[in-house]
Amino acid sequence: MNFLNRIRQRKTFKEHNKVTMDLIRSRPLPRHVSIIMDGNGRWAERKGLPRAAGHRQGVEKIREIIKASAELGIQYLTLYAFSTENWKRPKEEIKAIMSLLVEYLRRELDELHRNNIKIVTIGNIASLPEIAYEEIQKSINTTSANTGLQVNVALNYGGRLEIVTAIREISRKVANNELNISDIDEDLVSNHLYTGGIPDPDLLIRTGGDKRVSNFLLYQIAYTELWFSDATLYWPDFNVKHYLNAIYDFQNRQRRYGGVIEKGEN
Ligand code: IPE
Ligand code: IPE
Ligand code: MG
Repeated sequence: MNFLNRIRQRKTFKEHNKVTMDLIRSRPLPRHVSIIMDGNGRWAERKGLPRAAGHRQGVEKIREIIKASAELGIQYLTLYAFSTENWKRPKEEIKAIMSLLVEYLRRELDELHRNNIKIVTIGNIASLPEIAYEEIQKSINTTSANTGLQVNVALNYGGRLEIVTAIREISRKVANNELNISDIDEDLVSNHLYTGGIPDPDLLIRTGGDKRVSNFLLYQIAYTELWFSDATLYWPDFNVKHYLNAIYDFQNRQRRYGGVIEKGEN
């Protein structure tokens, strides 16, 4: 890194404490933010509480981050709520997560709808408990014509399952002569994912300190900027200030997509 860049970077970090919504809005915004909301269990354990208490507090944060995203003018927010691997957890914990989801949707749907927010799910929701499935369908149907922030809730979501599902669907079309093998390109694969039609995430945030993607949006994050919190920041403690900092960090990065930036650009 040259001297000038080093100075610039230092300034960036100094400014982090006073990052405001206006500052973020005055710069190019990420169109699509995705979040791995991790650390609910450890947050609760640290306080001597049952893990479900962490999930409950985590739900409150969802509310806050959706609101801030809408205020900023972000177009897509994708939230990892339950993975295909999370079924490995104790039955009681899974039950608590599903009930919290139902409770959240029942409580928040009206306000989300009033704020023109569109709820969409990605993942295999058909195999969720029936009550959760019905509540989700209701939220999707109620908000389907909304034109504001689109919130994609990843539920029973796995990146590998998503790719396998797309391969099956494409293969079925080839077998039925609806597609030729030569029609298969990156866009076609993209359009057969759960996220078909949604731009790839610009920014992926993970709280909780672990630096991994845990089967989230594997195809879509090829050129996504990654932001990992430090190990002490669990999702239930994540607030708008942290969120603005992550976006500000993103706004100070140079995305090259494998190319080079001409001198004077940026
Ligand atoms: C994320 O928090 C929420 C879900 C996976 C549903 P965790 O429950 O994974 O919390 P930690 O990572 O065990 O602390
Ligand atoms: C990722 O967190 C899934 C969600 C946040 C829903 P996990 O807690 O399941 O991921 P690992 O087990 O740490 O990789
Ligand atoms: Mg976890």
